[in-house]
Amino acid sequence: MDMLGMYPTFYVPAVGTAWVMGIIGVIHVVASHTSVGASFLFALLETKAYRENKPELMSFIKKYGMFLLVFSYIIGSITGPGIWYAITVASPRGVGGLIHNFVWVWAAEWVYFTVEVIGVYALVYLIGKVDPKTHLKLTWSFALASWATMLLIVGILSFMMWPGHENWYLTGSTNDAFYNLNFFAHLGTRTGSMFVMAAVVGLMVASRMQDASLRASVARFIAPVGLVGGLFAVMMFLYYLQTLPNNAIVMLNTHLLPVYAQGMVAVFVVSTLWLLLAWWKPHHIHTSLAVALFAFIAVVGVWPEERMRESMRKPYVAGQYIYGNQVIARDVPGKGIEGEVDKIAENGLLKLHPFIPDRLRTVTDSNRLEVGRTLAKIACANCHALESGAPLRNIPDKFHGATDEDLIAAFLNGPLKHGTQPYMPRIDLPEAEVQAIAHFIATVNKGVDIDAVIAEQRTSVVDARKD
Ligand code: HEC
Repeated sequence: MDMLGMYPTFYVPAVGTAWVMGIIGVIHVVASHTSVGASFLFALLETKAYRENKPELMSFIKKYGMFLLVFSYIIGSITGPGIWYAITVASPRGVGGLIHNFVWVWAAEWVYFTVEVIGVYALVYLIGKVDPKTHLKLTWSFALASWATMLLIVGILSFMMWPGHENWYLTGSTNDAFYNLNFFAHLGTRTGSMFVMAAVVGLMVASRMQDASLRASVARFIAPVGLVGGLFAVMMFLYYLQTLPNNAIVMLNTHLLPVYAQGMVAVFVVSTLWLLLAWWKPHHIHTSLAVALFAFIAVVGVWPEERMRESMRKPYVAGQYIYGNQVIARDVPGKGIEGEVDKIAENGLLKLHPFIPDRLRTVTDSNRLEVGRTLAKIACANCHALESGAPLRNIPDKFHGATDEDLIAAFLNGPLKHGTQPYMPRIDLPEAEVQAIAHFIATVNKGVDIDAVIAEQRTSVVDARKD
């Protein structure tokens, strides 16, 4: 029998794999959006300095550029590859699917990123060393290269939500994947937000400047850019909501907005007030306040935003054809890909998954618990932690601590088998596998030390063989 092209499952106990990715991702987004936004702030400010002959403004650009070099670029460059490692082990097939679509897009992004990094060094170190007009050109090239990296990544990220049309499934073409339904809305939202991020960090840098009148003129310049960016981001976000698939709308209305809506409104109100204050009374911009505002926006704004985008996409990780648990959800003729859900229903994961140890391929009384744990890791753990109380929608709590195996099996044989929950994959398994998962979940809920029981069962099987 042909095995499925599945990889081993990477599971981080208690935290949940998706959270590892989420934490790295949020740090990356804060750093990268600040850098891209700042590149445009620099270009605009330098144009003003050049036109109005105010070379003193360049001292702010130098200071902010240095800050970016030390913080954003180092943090961004560490977390960028961190994201790659995390997603590759967490969702190997998701990443594989994206690479098969976008390898040249990523290559192009890398080229722009190289220009961006060289650009930021050149920009900072060449102030006053080349003539102002050349420097201005350099700054604009830096800004455009920075934004190009964002544009290319957004095409890939928004394809992860869905292509939004049937074409791609038939053609498999990169263009059909890249210009997906929510590409422009998503790009607009991020472009607007990058100005807000850059303005908020810019105010932090400006607050450290000695010269009070220069500080005021810089703050007065930055604040309206952030305000216009914020307004644009909100408008584009409302448009973005119109481009989402049905599963995302359900997830948003039932699980996400009830938790995050207040925080989002709070971030909008607080950052608007902050930028208005900076505009109106620039000498009130104190460093401690500026740092607090930045932390507030990063934690209450960016974390929910990224978490929402990741959660809304459920049950898929990419293109509405790869489920979070790495199973292929449907045929994609354009790429020669076949759906796997029915094959699994017929033969079971234990037979089709290449990384199941042989001793677990058939369920017996002495391995049921271990098989159940293995299957739960493969089928559920990409989206659910397996430990009670863990933050990533942990399974024991989702079953309200139930210890009745039949009750748990009824859920697996009902909504999961038939795929009736829009945010969960259709997971249709043979009865023995359902029973094993139900047995595992019920045992966890009884508070039994699973590792100890499994270790004991294994040694007794080995002993039995020896006899
Ligand atoms: C692709 C992601 C994904 C996979 C895989 C997945 N689930 Fe879920 N599950 C979700 C989401 C999203 C929710 C919504 C609840 C939330 O966010 O808190 C959910 C909710 C649930 C609930 C609560 C009932 C409900 O409908 O809201 C149960 C029980 C559950 N899952 C069990 C399982 C089991 C058991 C497996 C594995 C056999 C599994 N899930 C696999 C994403 C997933």
